[in-house]
Amino acid sequence: MQENNKVPEFNRETLDLIAQLIKRYPEGRQKSALLPVLHIAQAENKGWLSPGMMDYVASLLQIEPIEVYEVASFYSMYNLKPVGNCVIEVCQTGPCWLKGAENIVAHFESRLGIKPGETTADGQFTLKTVECLAACGTAPVIQVGTEYHENLTTEKVDQLLDQWKAENKMSHKNPYL
Ligand code: FES
Repeated sequence: MQENNKVPEFNRETLDLIAQLIKRYPEGRQKSALLPVLHIAQAENKGWLSPGMMDYVASLLQIEPIEVYEVASFYSMYNLKPVGNCVIEVCQTGPCWLKGAENIVAHFESRLGIKPGETTADGQFTLKTVECLAACGTAPVIQVGTEYHENLTTEKVDQLLDQWKAENKMSHKNPYL
């Protein structure tokens, strides 16, 4: 939703949703809603958190912008630069690595022609490597938006990529709607 230096503004439905999230916490502890609000902000901003969007989130939660920057830059699930329509996060922590994550990353690189941290020229896919996605028992694992794909093989990756290309997969969805 945010373009260039335009100040972002959520619609009424999103603002009501954020108000409900804030109400989950005790009075004066609205900062506790920061993680879910950042998920919403990212989904509303084509999958990434621009400085303007983080400032807007700070104003909604009545906290300092630096408090938002610190959290957003700590977690790999938040993107601080523009991404493609479909963000593929490949777990590269020990258990997934032992079960072939290295091959999965290499296969995505070869199929998409990009390295982790990059986006395809057509803007469709961004590839990322991340730490444990908490599904080690079904390693190797990837996350795409709110979906997990487990026990991956290169054949499964091919099937998923063909499907996502055909449907122009979009991974940025508000997880609370
Ligand atoms: S190591 Fe990959 S999900 Fe835990």
